[in-house]
Amino acid sequence: MRTIVSLPGDGIGKVVLPEAIRLMEAAGFEANYVHGDIGWEYWQTEGNALPQRTIDLLEEHKIGLFGAITSKPKDAAAKELAPELQDKGYVYFSPIVGLRQHFNLDLCIRPCKAFQGNPLNFIRRKGENDFEEPPVDTVIFRQNTEGLYGGVEWTNPPKQVRDALETHPKMARFKNVAGEDLAISTRIVTRPATQRIMRAAFEYAKKFGYKNVTVCEKPNVLRETSGMMVQEARKVKEEYPDIDLWETNIDAQMMWLTKNPEDYGVIVAENMFGDIISDGFAGLVGGLGFACSANIGDEVAVFEPTHGSAPKYEELDPSIVNPIAMFLSACMMLDHLGETEKSDRIRKAISEVISEGKVRTYDMMKLRGGPDVFEKGACATQEMTDAVISKVRG
Ligand code: NAI
Ligand code: MG
Repeated sequence: MRTIVSLPGDGIGKVVLPEAIRLMEAAGFEANYVHGDIGWEYWQTEGNALPQRTIDLLEEHKIGLFGAITSKPKDAAAKELAPELQDKGYVYFSPIVGLRQHFNLDLCIRPCKAFQGNPLNFIRRKGENDFEEPPVDTVIFRQNTEGLYGGVEWTNPPKQVRDALETHPKMARFKNVAGEDLAISTRIVTRPATQRIMRAAFEYAKKFGYKNVTVCEKPNVLRETSGMMVQEARKVKEEYPDIDLWETNIDAQMMWLTKNPEDYGVIVAENMFGDIISDGFAGLVGGLGFACSANIGDEVAVFEPTHGSAPKYEELDPSIVNPIAMFLSACMMLDHLGETEKSDRIRKAISEVISEGKVRTYDMMKLRGGPDVFEKGACATQEMTDAVISKVRG
């Protein structure tokens, strides 16, 4: 039997992940789940939010299902270390970013597909007193390891770096800026990683019948990095005569988001642009309670909802949060494992529960979260799972 590394993490990650496992079991998916330690308590007690033993587990089993973690800025994190670990030089790093980098999970896939009847779906005004609900079905391919989030950055860069930068004529106007007043974040893009994500995006479009791939960058300004993205997109496109290649600029794309979102099939972008655009599209189809993702490398893959640990709600029992983002992430895992009959059945069950509209979490009712949402008609997290399970079982 297959073994999956279960990484609940912190806060509501610990709530939604077991629910996803319960749902997959009800759909007939059998697996062993081994628990992987990850998150805030391991930072506090061991000085490492991503212990080596967890990396070893993923190395061995290759597939991770991840909930969410709590992350804090460097200084705030240092204050919360166990007393015996204080001032020993431990530095906090986000364990999910750590996983992406360690296993080179360079393809991040974020499908944003509207479920019919979801009250959170984007609607567009049409005529005087009329509106329409565009059937958004867009999949964002975000380069997950390079670009602006590559981590190569400085405040007060070392002399060699500054000297090297000053060989560029455009650095001339920063010549008199004091080192401590100078912050630099790089945007590094490599051709192999670019080729890999472009090919993955076109392959996905072909496999799932999307008619276009949009490379969303800004090559008129970011001539080198966006330039390389667009260049490689055009090359890969030649191998896919039936799929159109569209080129948009990130700023204009964000404006068009509400104009014609239903026209976009697959969108591919650099790390930060992909982060922005996937949140934008997620907002059109219900937001964090619906936003799922996959981080895929050559060997290892980790599936996770894009929301965080929602500390505000972690203490609420019964829990109020929406488990659908986690369910859809589990479905992506099932797809990856070739269990598409089960993932299709789960998605269909979710879609039925949503369109019936009888069982809704607080976010779907546009309520402010809190313990009083139940008396206003919202369901608990576990009740949403039960509702989906009853449909899965038919
Ligand atoms: P968040 O995603 O945890 O919450 C943002 C808002 O959405 C909150 O109002 C929250 O209650 C609500 N929300 C989140 N998930 C929901 C769900 N499934 N159903 C209904 N409502 C939901 O982001 P926030 O508040 O910015 O960060 C909280 C913590 O999570 C921080 O420590 C942050 O660093 C971490 N985080 C972790 C991520 C990860 O594990 N991949 C991603 C984003 C944030
Ligand atoms: Mg984000």
